[in-house]
Amino acid sequence: MKIADFKIEEWMNKYSAGAEYDLTTTCIAPLSINDLPYSKEIFNVKLGYGDIEGSNRLKNNIKTLYKNQEPENITVTHGAIGANQLVFLSLLEAGDEVVSVVPTYQQHYSIPESLGCKVKLYFLKEENNWLPDMEELDRMITAKTKLLCLNNPNNPTGSVIPDNKLKEIVQITQNKNVWILSDEVYRGLNLMGKPYSESVADLYEKGISVGSMSKTYSLPGLRVGWITGRVDLINEINHQRQYNTISVSILDDYFASIALENRERIAERNFKIIRSGINILRNWLAETPQFSGIIPTGGTTALLKYHFDIPSRDFCRKLLQSEKVALLPGETLEMEGYVRLGFCAENLEPALQKIKCFAGNFRYS
Ligand SMILES: Cc1ncc(COP(=O)(O)O)c(C=O)c1O
Repeated sequence: MKIADFKIEEWMNKYSAGAEYDLTTTCIAPLSINDLPYSKEIFNVKLGYGDIEGSNRLKNNIKTLYKNQEPENITVTHGAIGANQLVFLSLLEAGDEVVSVVPTYQQHYSIPESLGCKVKLYFLKEENNWLPDMEELDRMITAKTKLLCLNNPNNPTGSVIPDNKLKEIVQITQNKNVWILSDEVYRGLNLMGKPYSESVADLYEKGISVGSMSKTYSLPGLRVGWITGRVDLINEINHQRQYNTISVSILDDYFASIALENRERIAERNFKIIRSGINILRNWLAETPQFSGIIPTGGTTALLKYHFDIPSRDFCRKLLQSEKVALLPGETLEMEGYVRLGFCAENLEPALQKIKCFAGNFRYS
């Protein structure tokens, strides 16, 4: 199966490790096992495959993140990356029409393309606060569309679709009998209103929600994600899943359960980091006219426009060489002229000061 280069992953694999200041990150200071209140009994657990589709304890913990999901509506996957892929493999066939809201995680258009689907990209606009315009979206989704792909809260823009707008999107897809895949890996990180937005799996019988331990719960090294949706779809996904997962590690399953049982403590810690990052970013933008952008209302990333004339990949390469600061070029997100910045990164403040000084070498345009 041929598939496009996964641009952000390639960029990060190549450049993040060499950076002293890594602002490409989308995670919030990962936790260690010692940060979790685990029981020593875990050291006696036999390392078999464990519960193939995820333990009851884990599924019951995941269930508490939703209004009306039951363990049979949930399957556990290798991160959200595994979850998204399983949804595409289970739902799509060559010739199907897919609408993907971009910028987003590249899986959401490159996997459907690789399966031979007709993919239409709906670009969010900065002047709309990076939120979908209902009329435009309605026009793009047709009776032929099989799946709409969303990422809410959004990576890279940090926008959060308000619940009333999300319900309007659901209505549009319902009228046209279209599935929605909502990648909700940043769900629980809203800065305005309630931390958790509504989940499409709770709003619509053809709504599929993907979640993960990587962002909201600061445990990307566990490689635990999940899919929630209609039982017949989950059964179909489990059929595909047998060929690519078997089970997630019994250790990962256990620590994910502990973390979800303690998620309020994790949220308290993470919101301190997020709020501090947002304040630093806001102050920096106010004093750095070479960059502009919308302050995120959720998630961990911001998409910033730069006001000088250089391709984003060249700018980011030069910045890294000169200042050892890694940013993600907008081109890797189909957003030339922008850079993505992870505002929960360590040493954000000194890194931003270095970017400001370095940007002074370019003529403002
Ligand atoms: C929107 C989105 N979906 C999925 C993933 C993959 O997450 P995971 O680590 O759970 O596989 C990421 C990682 O950055 C992401 O930003």
